[in-house]
Amino acid sequence: MTCMGEAKLVEALGTMQENTTLQRRNHDKEKLVMVEACDAREDEKGPYRLERGVQRGTCRDSCLTRTIMEVTQVLHMNRGAGETSYANNSLLQQKAIRLTKAMREEAISNLYRSMVPGRLTMADLGCSSGPNTLFVISEVIKSVEKLCQELNHSSPEYQIFMNDLPGNDFNNIFKSLANFKEKLSEEIQAGCGTCFFAGVPGSFYGRIFPNKTLHFVHSSYSLQWLSKVPEGVENNKGNIYMASTSPANVLNAYYEQFQRDFSLFLKCRAEEIVEGGRMVLTFLGRRSNDPSSKECCYIWELLAMALNDMVSKGMIKEEEMDTFNIPQYTPSPSEVEVEVLKEGSFTINGLEVTEMPWNAFDSECSLHTSVSDGGYNVTKCMRAVAEPLLVSHFGEAVIELVFSRYQHILIERMSKEKTEFVNVSISMTRKP
Ligand SMILES: C[S@@+](CC[C@H](N)C(=O)[O-])C[C@H]1O[C@@H](n2cnc3c(N)ncnc32)[C@H](O)[C@@H]1O
Repeated sequence: MTCMGEAKLVEALGTMQENTTLQRRNHDKEKLVMVEACDAREDEKGPYRLERGVQRGTCRDSCLTRTIMEVTQVLHMNRGAGETSYANNSLLQQKAIRLTKAMREEAISNLYRSMVPGRLTMADLGCSSGPNTLFVISEVIKSVEKLCQELNHSSPEYQIFMNDLPGNDFNNIFKSLANFKEKLSEEIQAGCGTCFFAGVPGSFYGRIFPNKTLHFVHSSYSLQWLSKVPEGVENNKGNIYMASTSPANVLNAYYEQFQRDFSLFLKCRAEEIVEGGRMVLTFLGRRSNDPSSKECCYIWELLAMALNDMVSKGMIKEEEMDTFNIPQYTPSPSEVEVEVLKEGSFTINGLEVTEMPWNAFDSECSLHTSVSDGGYNVTKCMRAVAEPLLVSHFGEAVIELVFSRYQHILIERMSKEKTEFVNVSISMTRKP
């Protein structure tokens, strides 16, 4: 024992699951923080090293690594504006945003007409960084300004909150604000209300705004991310997400985590949104009632194939593979609806399901002629999203090899099958 008493360490470890990757209870936090400060350890199962997912260390060859990965600290899209950045590889997500334009316009128009706010306060949750971050905000402002002209109203002020986890590249957003404002004033010739921007770091699975302050909340392609990998999925061996071969307890654990997270999300937003306020959410989801259906799980199953191939060649330890699970749940429309009805604070105005090809550069949902381009694009899109999670668990050294294998697999599969993502969107009003 190097930095804490044996009794304390045993107590702390006793509260942990055997495979601690991405799995921990909140009430373990304090004990684990003590453990984190320590280094190489030994218990009844032999030597191991405890480390946090946020900073990967080297481990003695023979020892078992137990990574404690905190989703709120590890999860972020690839930062910056480079080749593999989310900013440069988020066309797919932008397409999803475009698909819900009508839903947003209905929400904003009804909201504005019923309240005529002098200051319109809106929040984009899970805004990330790049062209999509300000896309919805600009669209909402344009819709409101158009309404103001039609109704002969003066423009409201706009208070705009951009939320994401603390690891998000907020600096990149802030740097782009001057350009954004300039472009907006060029586009809205008649003039536009003053915009006040603020970044709000923190998890949307908790309170992030004061009571009754928001008129409009938007979130796209963010709520499928869970607050953590569900507990009790240790037997999901060889898989990294729900898959056709996942045991039933794994599927249940994922669903229950989604229920807990989404109901907490609704409860928090119900406090923060004014009566009559509106919320439009889009999840990466599925149509099928089967949570392990191909339409939502296949993209991760193919990544698991790449990782398993590296396990078979001794490039990744089997134990590392078996302790990695993606903290995501892609719900069906009825699963989303059930949670909203159960929580009870919102009326549902609309629920929609849409599809998009995996390759965002495909203009139609059919097999693309340039399949290799498609595989390349999808790999880049997935890399921008999943690389930080993979690096924190498997380390930087294997990443290029993982994604080159993944690309080969994607090219091969996309040449044979029609591959689509499913979006589930819901529009709601805060009840009085
Ligand atoms: C795929 S990106 C979507 C970004 C943007 N909305 C878009 O459509 O391009 C998902 C974002 O959700 C954020 N996110 C995931 N879980 C979150 C949480 N609990 N609280 C806040 N943001 C979260 C991620 O950090 C990431 O930036």
